[in-house]
Amino acid sequence: MSANELWGGRFAKGPAEIMERINASIDFDRRLYQQDITGSIAHSNMLIAKGIISREDGEKIQEGLRTILREIEAGNFKTDPALEDIHMHVEARLRELIGDAAGRLHTARSRNDQVATDMRLWVRDTMDHLDGELKDLQTALVDLADSEADTVMPGFTHLQAAQPVTFGHHMLAYTEMFARDRGRLQDARARLNECPLGSAALAGTSFPIDREMTAKELGFDRPTANSLDGVSDRDFALEFLSFASICSMHLSRLAEEIVIWSSAQFRFVECSDSFSTGSSIMPQKKNPDAAELIRGKAGRSSGAFNTLLMMMKGLPMTYGKDMQEDKEPVFDAADNLQLCLAAMTGMISDLTVNREILKAASGAGFSTATDLADWLVRSLNMPFRNAHHVTGALVKLAETKNCGLEDLSLQDMQGVEPAITEDVFDVLGVDNSVASRTSYGGTSPQNVKEQVKLWKSRLAGGA
Ligand code: ARG
Repeated sequence: MSANELWGGRFAKGPAEIMERINASIDFDRRLYQQDITGSIAHSNMLIAKGIISREDGEKIQEGLRTILREIEAGNFKTDPALEDIHMHVEARLRELIGDAAGRLHTARSRNDQVATDMRLWVRDTMDHLDGELKDLQTALVDLADSEADTVMPGFTHLQAAQPVTFGHHMLAYTEMFARDRGRLQDARARLNECPLGSAALAGTSFPIDREMTAKELGFDRPTANSLDGVSDRDFALEFLSFASICSMHLSRLAEEIVIWSSAQFRFVECSDSFSTGSSIMPQKKNPDAAELIRGKAGRSSGAFNTLLMMMKGLPMTYGKDMQEDKEPVFDAADNLQLCLAAMTGMISDLTVNREILKAASGAGFSTATDLADWLVRSLNMPFRNAHHVTGALVKLAETKNCGLEDLSLQDMQGVEPAITEDVFDVLGVDNSVASRTSYGGTSPQNVKEQVKLWKSRLAGGA
């Protein structure tokens, strides 16, 4: 073929080769082989049942499809960019295996409804795997919350020490976040679970197909109700990526805490050797690389979400080849999320918590000042605003004496507020402080133990 007259000056050959390269998706969509073959078997079962193809042809087709599945799984399936995608590869191989009957498989179907069905099946399988992995992570977090239910640590706002909390409570906060992520998966799965197969190219078909039948065989709740929407909708992939972005953000926050906590300046926790690396030049270093990579990879999922959102936003109905670009972001986000969840579960299961250091740190920065103010309200019936003021004065006094609130003498305290009694020391230690936070959802070890119990039974019950 001769070069294009307008822009082909530097091309020895015509545009066919570059066209083939931009057009072919087989290098990445071969991952859909299983879904593609399952979808084709369901479609052929329906064609046989409705008398659209003969049983004999249908059985030949199905035997051929099973052979192809085995070939691909054994790793001996040749691909050729001229055959574009997984759908054409499977059909071409089928023709080699069974001859002309292969051509009957595509009756009442188009690659448009075929690829939409394959992608839904793939995303649905992936959602189910990820749900299991999220559950494993929750289990690791709940176990850690259990063993560290009474461990006090500084609670932060603005990354400034605010009030002491329990380490278990902190782990359960993440357990809640991942529970919401699992909820998002379930919600998205329910909306995804409609079958586009039978929408054909865009308008439906004149063949007497049974869409309920194929939907049911493929585990969908029902067929999609509008053929135009059936072939052009990628909301299910966007919802999956939106879930993946939020879940990655949660993982990234936890990863960031592990990075901070394991630094020499904090030493709150230590990552096991299996999730750390050394430095090639500084022998003393032990770096929390797994945590950093989880934090770093979070950008990929939201990047994938944006890629797909932007790809879809200008598309008139129905199918456009642009939509072939949905696959790489979905696969990339799924692969990386799977990796991050497994790494985080490993890290959490192996984490060493430095209880002594956490305890010492949780008393710093006058962290029990709110307890003192609350005590003044409760025991002296002081209005909270006045109590806030008196506590401020006591903090200032402790600061000038360079000591903690609990190290002030009763005399010192009475110099600021004469009504203060010995009992005040009961609320000033960090253990007393966390033990008193028994309001629902609060940080007390007692609350943590109750929540751990609840979570354990939820997780054991399949939730
Ligand atoms: N490889 C294509 C994709 O992933 C399959 C659908 C092609 N349909 C078409 N009419 N060219 O979107």
